[in-house]
Amino acid sequence: MTTRWTPQSWRSKPARQIPTDYPDPAALKRAEDQLRAMPPLVFAGEARRLKAELARVAAGEAFLLQGGDCAESFKEFHADTIRDTFRVMLQMAVVLTFAGRKPVVKVGRIAGQFAKPRSSEIETVGDVTLPSYRGDIVNGMEFEAEARTPDPERLLRAYAQSSSTLNLLRALAGGGYADLYNVHKWTLGFVGDSPLGARYRDLADKISETLSFMESIGITADRNPEIHRVEFFTSHEALLLNYEEALTRSDSSTGEWYDTSAHMLWIGERTRQLDGAHLEYARGVRNPLGVKCGPTMEPDELLRLIDVLNPANEPGRLTLIGRFGHDKAGQRLPKLMSAVKREGRHVVWSIDPMHGNTLKAANGYKTRPFDRILTEVKTFIEAAHAEGVHPGGVHLEMTGQNVTECLGGAQSVTEDDLSSRYHTHCDPRLNADQALELAFLLAEKLKAAAQPSRRAASA
Ligand code: PEP
Ligand code: CO
Repeated sequence: MTTRWTPQSWRSKPARQIPTDYPDPAALKRAEDQLRAMPPLVFAGEARRLKAELARVAAGEAFLLQGGDCAESFKEFHADTIRDTFRVMLQMAVVLTFAGRKPVVKVGRIAGQFAKPRSSEIETVGDVTLPSYRGDIVNGMEFEAEARTPDPERLLRAYAQSSSTLNLLRALAGGGYADLYNVHKWTLGFVGDSPLGARYRDLADKISETLSFMESIGITADRNPEIHRVEFFTSHEALLLNYEEALTRSDSSTGEWYDTSAHMLWIGERTRQLDGAHLEYARGVRNPLGVKCGPTMEPDELLRLIDVLNPANEPGRLTLIGRFGHDKAGQRLPKLMSAVKREGRHVVWSIDPMHGNTLKAANGYKTRPFDRILTEVKTFIEAAHAEGVHPGGVHLEMTGQNVTECLGGAQSVTEDDLSSRYHTHCDPRLNADQALELAFLLAEKLKAAAQPSRRAASA
């Protein structure tokens, strides 16, 4: 890939998962032109700031928590949903920070997570075959020819929704809601009643005590405004490159290109071909990037991919997001981790324990068993520890809503429960309770994994 990069250069490469059946290409071009005239959603300086935070994760000094919907949708768009996802992430971050003694970098799968890769181009029901649903930014979910036809107006609607989502997130992060003094108020009603709610309240009590102690020795929120707010970043899969290209802007202070649709972008498992359009696009923007690494990824291929996406070996630029499945992670991860370490490449290692653990329940619902999700996370931490690398983060599909999409957890969601509150627009998500439970278990595991080396260091 030595050819000159431009925001459009991806167009001359094979592009998977991007619809080619827009009925009116001129209308698509008009929508792209309109997007080009819109203000950026994020600033280059903010993306650089996230990169610096991720560099701390790469160095083992912080932890990355990335999570949100599998797919945002136009229909489920609501301030409460956004707030609830934000607040579970705050709770999880508190749990992880308190137990893991490391700052948590918070990145939502939000404000742009609209395009979905699909394993099949088409869907057949009875004797009717239609194009697959590709996310609300492309077409509609209803199984009707009109809904399934790609509609360029959807790019503009996705931008508008992302813009107001981000506006609310900025207000939540900086406007007092995320104030650490509110740590007790973040408990969601239905979680509050569960054993996890009680466990969270205990932890919140300890934080409140710590804050009062700090106040009494003069460390007050007035002098330390970071107590009043959090930094919250956005991310999504850079899949529909027409949208990403239209929001790609040259940063006036450095002349570098940034994708201003989100702070961080990632490349999915199905579009990470070395000679493909998605890598071509991603290599030229300076945002922090993620790449999903599934069970077919070989060490050589991974190293070549790193060469393309992070030739300068810049820490924080690249996050490798493993997604192998509970039964494959132990066999696949160590050789990837050891190859990357041997070659001295600076990366963040993160685990997505969702996408390799999807199955179909007997009643037809797509689901994920909580214990398999947990097994993959534990395997990740153990493998990282054995290879001497930092288990830097997790990447989760989750929601603050009380849904029944993943099986198990402390509240034991069963196959029969799935139908009661199954709302996802794509893959099954952890509900708030399951997400919090995962955070507690993860915190324990991280603490245990860190202890032997701490002992060794002090010996
Ligand atoms: C996703 O993150 O929603 C996704 C489709 O993941 P993957 O590319 O790992 O399959
Ligand atoms: Co998904």
